[in-house]
Amino acid sequence: MITVFGSINMDLVAPVRRIARPGETVLSPRADSFFGGKGANQAVAAARMGGDDAIGVSMAAAVGDDAFGKACLDNLRKNGIDVEAVRIVDEPTGCAFITVDDAGENAITVASGANMAVRAADVPERLLSGASVVVLQMEVPFIENLEMARRARKVGATVVWNVAPVPAAVERGAMADMLAMTDVLVVNEHEALAVAALVGEDAGSDYLKASSILAQVCGLVCIVTAGAKGAVAVSPDGAQRQAVAWPVTAVDTTGAGDTFVGVLARGLAERRDLGDAMRRACVAASLSCRAVGAQAGMPTRAVLERALLA
Ligand code: RIB
Ligand code: NA
Repeated sequence: MITVFGSINMDLVAPVRRIARPGETVLSPRADSFFGGKGANQAVAAARMGGDDAIGVSMAAAVGDDAFGKACLDNLRKNGIDVEAVRIVDEPTGCAFITVDDAGENAITVASGANMAVRAADVPERLLSGASVVVLQMEVPFIENLEMARRARKVGATVVWNVAPVPAAVERGAMADMLAMTDVLVVNEHEALAVAALVGEDAGSDYLKASSILAQVCGLVCIVTAGAKGAVAVSPDGAQRQAVAWPVTAVDTTGAGDTFVGVLARGLAERRDLGDAMRRACVAASLSCRAVGAQAGMPTRAVLERALLA
């Protein structure tokens, strides 16, 4: 089983010619709602890879007692995800306000709501003892991620941590503890530099250097996703592996990183070697950019296999 501990959001997406500057108002023809939240997106990406094997996906999270919450839960269920550990709390369901400009660039504000009420202690032992991979991000309280990583390590699950978004400040010791419990770190170029800085390492603007430092100092595999450039993984011994993206005309890159993480987690749960899992994750992430909305373009296993053969 893959257990995703993290956020669920409703995404409100408005296309704009140009993203508003502070104090400025821009007009958008309309807003549409899409299912989102990094945790939910990653769970859906992993679930779409469902094959004949018995690897299931479960999600531990929180939503509000409102229409968004109901719709989000329903969507997870429809994607075959076990939602028994999604709590309904007395806060509004998480909501992301997203503007996407003509160049496909986006700006996102996440109103956390229920996501800040997610607690590691609420996750039933069943979801951990049965999990081979536990996936974490950064849209729930950091301290809960720490506790969840601790529990995951105890049962021998592989901990995949997508440090997105990178917090402005975290105590260095807590950050080091979290990294020490992480097996596979997934970050983009900016996040790689920011995470290194949070543990007191200055890599300038060299994200590969930041990844190498993190991999070696923290004893983990650091994967940096670089959009159309693909991804590179650095192992603790310094060895590097590359994976290439798949050429697509991107209409919306929202959720591409989450697709990468979910499909990677699935590959690891299937015991694929890292290079193979990364290649699948990269191609899936590329494919996801062909549709508007974080989850709409996420490929099924069949669609991914076809692309891999092309
Ligand atoms: O990674 C993309 C996600 O980030 C969106 O779905 C939005 O909800 C934000 O959390
Ligand atoms: Na998309």
